[in-house]
Amino acid sequence: MFAAVCRVVTATVSAGATYSVTHSHKVAPACSTFACLRLKSPERHYNNYCHSRRMSSAEAPQGVVVELDEVKQYMVRCMTKVGTKQAHAEALADVLLAADHRGHYSHGLNRLDMYVHDIRSKICRSDIEPSIIKETAATAYVNGNNVLGPVVGNFCTDLAIKKAKEAGIGWVVAKGSNHFGIAGWYSMRASDQGFLGMAFTDTSPLVVPTRARKPVLGTNPITLAAPAAEGDSFVLDMATSTCAVGKIELQHRKGLPIPNGWGVDSEGKEVNDPEKVLGSKGGLLPLGGTEISSGYKGYGLGMMVEVFCGILAGSAYGPNIRKWMNTTTEADLGQCFVAIDPDAFAPGFPDRMSDLMNICRTSQPIEGETEVLVAGDPERKHMEKCKNQGGVDYHPNQIAHMYELAKQLDVAPMNIKN
Ligand SMILES: NC(=O)c1ccc[n+]([C@@H]2O[C@H](COP(=O)([O-])OP(=O)(O)OC[C@H]3O[C@@H](n4cnc5c(N)ncnc54)[C@H](O)[C@@H]3O)[C@@H](O)[C@H]2O)c1
Repeated sequence: MFAAVCRVVTATVSAGATYSVTHSHKVAPACSTFACLRLKSPERHYNNYCHSRRMSSAEAPQGVVVELDEVKQYMVRCMTKVGTKQAHAEALADVLLAADHRGHYSHGLNRLDMYVHDIRSKICRSDIEPSIIKETAATAYVNGNNVLGPVVGNFCTDLAIKKAKEAGIGWVVAKGSNHFGIAGWYSMRASDQGFLGMAFTDTSPLVVPTRARKPVLGTNPITLAAPAAEGDSFVLDMATSTCAVGKIELQHRKGLPIPNGWGVDSEGKEVNDPEKVLGSKGGLLPLGGTEISSGYKGYGLGMMVEVFCGILAGSAYGPNIRKWMNTTTEADLGQCFVAIDPDAFAPGFPDRMSDLMNICRTSQPIEGETEVLVAGDPERKHMEKCKNQGGVDYHPNQIAHMYELAKQLDVAPMNIKN
């Protein structure tokens, strides 16, 4: 069990309910996580849910329900208050809200104060737009000009779609970008218009190459969204590490071991003790784990992302990218966005896509399971849940943090439903 509990914070929310938030986290130096490093404030230690819980849909919180637009407007208020251009604030809020809505809480409201900090500290700009450095009929090389990642991502995706309409494919690579949130936002932006969409980004080094001791690559996500019939779609959106760093932080917080295949210690040895993985002590294993379980395939995929991003873009890449949580230098991330017109190939793409997905979904499930899913289904289920409850549900810790940030920025907090 943990030796100490950092602090207990009580936040009174507007509906009158009072939440006691106990942050059970071993005291520094073990706590080298995001909020603590960045904000350098013990008062903030408890509050950033992202550093204590980066949740996936597998562990959606039981909490307070907030209407979708309410979440978006709150995010916009926070971002504009620190000087973000309205359109940039809205672009960011859309992506963060989509993450929460889809059940990827690690990349939603949790991360808001990271972006607030980026704009407030002026390490990221909002007084300029991305620009095209050079282009051909099917390609474009873009300078993100260090604006918010979603602004760069939307700009590049829309450009890729425009080119795909004319040339059958649009392949756009950007340098000078920032963290763009969930990769699936951009692939779905293309698939919503009938195109196959792909997006990739490099990220701060956290993942060790197979056989290596030290992290070299980021969790470099990959996404493909492909339209199927009747509004259905295949949406693969995944990190190329076995698990997100937040899942390891969660095990750490609970005092539980991590499974094999998740992380290594400072010697590059697979470990089950999250303490030895976190901070700058160890690293994450690529998707697949160690060499015996084919982790080199995840390592290869992470490299592939870097080829499309940092190497093609001439931006920072691999270990040259600023360390996770470091906001003293510009991120200069490389990103890649692709749109493909399925009509450039065999007719009937959406029907065949639906056929294959239905074959998978109607496969006989293993004992103990009731259904077989395809990529995108878990997120659809979460969105359905949000629809039924009238909004996104947040853990009380997140609500407490939201009040804290609202107070700090002197903006109105979100109205909560219950
Ligand atoms: N911007 C960044 O730097 C960055 C880095 C890493 C990850 N991310 C984002 O984090 C989010 C979470 O990534 P993750 O790898 O933890 O996702 P995940 O492991 O929760 O899901 C990965 C994919 O698997 C699918 N899936 C899940 N369960 C399934 C099942 N039973 N059957 C079929 N398919 C299933 C999901 O629909 C999803 O497409 C993603 O949106 C990703 O883009 C962003």
